[in-house]
Amino acid sequence: MRVLITGARGQVGRELLRLAPDAFEVIGLDSASLDITHAKAVEAKVAELQPGLIINAAAYTAVDKAESDAERAWAVNRDGVANLACAAEKLGIPVLHISTDYVFAGDADSPYRETDTTGPTGVYGASKLAGEQALAEGCSRYIVLRTSWVFGALGNNFVKTMLRVGKERDTLSVVADQQGGPTSAAAIAKVLWLLAQRHLEHQPLPWGVYHLSGAPDCSWFEFAQEIFAQAEAFGLLTRQPQVLAIKTEQYPTPAKRPAWSVLDSSKLSSLLGMEIPQWKDDLKKMLAELKQGNVEPE
Ligand SMILES: NC(=O)c1ccc[n+]([C@@H]2O[C@H](COP(=O)([O-])OP(=O)(O)OC[C@H]3O[C@@H](n4cnc5c(N)ncnc54)[C@H](OP(=O)(O)O)[C@@H]3O)[C@@H](O)[C@H]2O)c1
Repeated sequence: MRVLITGARGQVGRELLRLAPDAFEVIGLDSASLDITHAKAVEAKVAELQPGLIINAAAYTAVDKAESDAERAWAVNRDGVANLACAAEKLGIPVLHISTDYVFAGDADSPYRETDTTGPTGVYGASKLAGEQALAEGCSRYIVLRTSWVFGALGNNFVKTMLRVGKERDTLSVVADQQGGPTSAAAIAKVLWLLAQRHLEHQPLPWGVYHLSGAPDCSWFEFAQEIFAQAEAFGLLTRQPQVLAIKTEQYPTPAKRPAWSVLDSSKLSSLLGMEIPQWKDDLKKMLAELKQGNVEPE
């Protein structure tokens, strides 16, 4: 089966390319090859390539910038997804799409389930939620995979930032009152390929929304502490910097951050019969890869 991957140069897009099973013929297009906001270009490219499945890893992901660049965020995260949905529906093929914990208000105290009420608090979350809705309206067979706190060896993310800052400073402050589930880009890519495999093999694949969040949940402060402990053990840092726990209001950002970002992944894990990914194990794999020097630290 031919699979078209959009946003193929992003951190999840690149993991999708390198973890693609042999059963699929993969065509990865970056934003220069296919800008998903151009409806005609999307329709023409999909009609030309005739894929059996589209995986959309393209998104406007600059959460803070989105507050002042809303038009572009909506164009990519809502209209771009609508364009893909429309092109897929014309061919009668499904779309696997990635979304975010930011569709929720972040004021819960138990893990969010797929059926919980959404309530984004910023432009990024609102535009991603609108993308989910556009997909559901435009495409009869689709998966929305909501995930959180993505990290990996390919691309920029919190782990890479901590490694850089940890080298430069003896002390740093990290927010301790936001709770979430760090999720490796590799774990997301593996799940998307498992879903694609089910579709290929005509196994039951109930379309709709699924959550995937690494376990156990933690705060950014705890995440940073683990990053530094593992990085020192790997010899990526010569010593661990001191990490100070601060409150959200001590680190103001243009976009409001959800205090509670924990997603309940049980629907997905029971569908696929898989364990929920443990982020500390995935962090080890990422740091091992950085240590081997296969990829640039940042
Ligand atoms: N990163 C996180 O912590 C996080 C958390 C939860 C959910 N997610 C979701 O996970 C998915 C993948 O995110 P990621 O971390 O891999 O983000 P990423 O590294 O920023 O990758 C996104 C990719 O989308 C491409 N893109 C942007 N606008 C485009 C357009 N108009 N047409 C085609 N491609 C376009 C970007 O290309 P250019 O750079 O060339 O513009 C970039 O390569 C997204 O749906 C995101 O919302 C991410």
